[in-house]
Amino acid sequence: MAPREIRVEDLDTEKFIREKGEEMARVVGDGRAINALSGGVDSSAVTVLAHRALGARIETVFIENGLMREGESGSVVATFAGLGIPVRVIDARARFFAALAGLTDPEDKRNAITKTFYSTVFGPLVRDSGATFLLHGTILTDVEETVAGIKRQHNILAQLGIDPEKAYGYRVLEPLIELRKPAVRKLARALGLPASVYARPPFPGPALAARVIGEVTPEDVALVRAATTIVEAELSGFGAFQCMAILHGERVPGMRHGRREYGRQIEVRCWDTADAVSARPTAVPFATLVRLGERISSEVPGVVSVTYNVTAKPPSTMEAV
Ligand code: XMP
Repeated sequence: MAPREIRVEDLDTEKFIREKGEEMARVVGDGRAINALSGGVDSSAVTVLAHRALGARIETVFIENGLMREGESGSVVATFAGLGIPVRVIDARARFFAALAGLTDPEDKRNAITKTFYSTVFGPLVRDSGATFLLHGTILTDVEETVAGIKRQHNILAQLGIDPEKAYGYRVLEPLIELRKPAVRKLARALGLPASVYARPPFPGPALAARVIGEVTPEDVALVRAATTIVEAELSGFGAFQCMAILHGERVPGMRHGRREYGRQIEVRCWDTADAVSARPTAVPFATLVRLGERISSEVPGVVSVTYNVTAKPPSTMEAV
């Protein structure tokens, strides 16, 4: 059964922070808790909530999977350092790329990332830490989508009939489970997180691996990362829900300095949507698209083709993988 909802207009943030904090402190008692921070609004809100309530009894880790955007891990750590919250960075890049090597099927790639996160990296870390509580930023939408079978969010255990205490030896605490995204953003703001966190556009769990068509190698992630920086800089002013660069696997003929160059293709996508269930391409001015083409093909090594996706979702999806 889905938990009750606290709607954004009904959320009294001070009361919520106080009550959830008291509850967390009571449940954890003298025990120790751990949580993984991604820099997204859900895990960021949980991190601040838990540190306020538990102090030294909670440890926060950031798993560097090698798939994040330019400067992302550094800025997450710096944001939390500014709030007095230490974050331990775990360098797991080699393990993620080893798991992704040779995979081209989208579901295989997604499964490899989830499995590496839980089975190879975070699971052993939780066991070694001696923590008996795992804090998770599960929100109401995650529960509903899992129950409806739309997608299996890896954070939902109880709804799938798995008792983590029996299976893994720790209890999962999910203090945001009554909230949807707008309420979480309101809470994150009340917790003192900056706008770069509480108003952050969505970014998928598989990170840049969701934007590489074909095998995900460190070289191709570096390429799509560089293109992403340019796309976000050029398109952030249009009020779109999300914008992104996608790297195609196939090379195409191009031409540079009077010579033929067999190069890479970047597809730009920019979406208008209210709920991400259906979406339309944003009406980006043509001059901006041309500038994107010039910048990406000159600043990102090897790119000879830049296109703009004009398909709606459906039949497109927003991410490529
Ligand atoms: P799609 O590609 O399914 O994307 O049309 C819809 C929205 O969901 C985001 N997305 C994800 N978010 N974990 C997430 O937290 C994921 O695995 C994931 N896959 C897609 C996507 O960025 C878009 O906002």
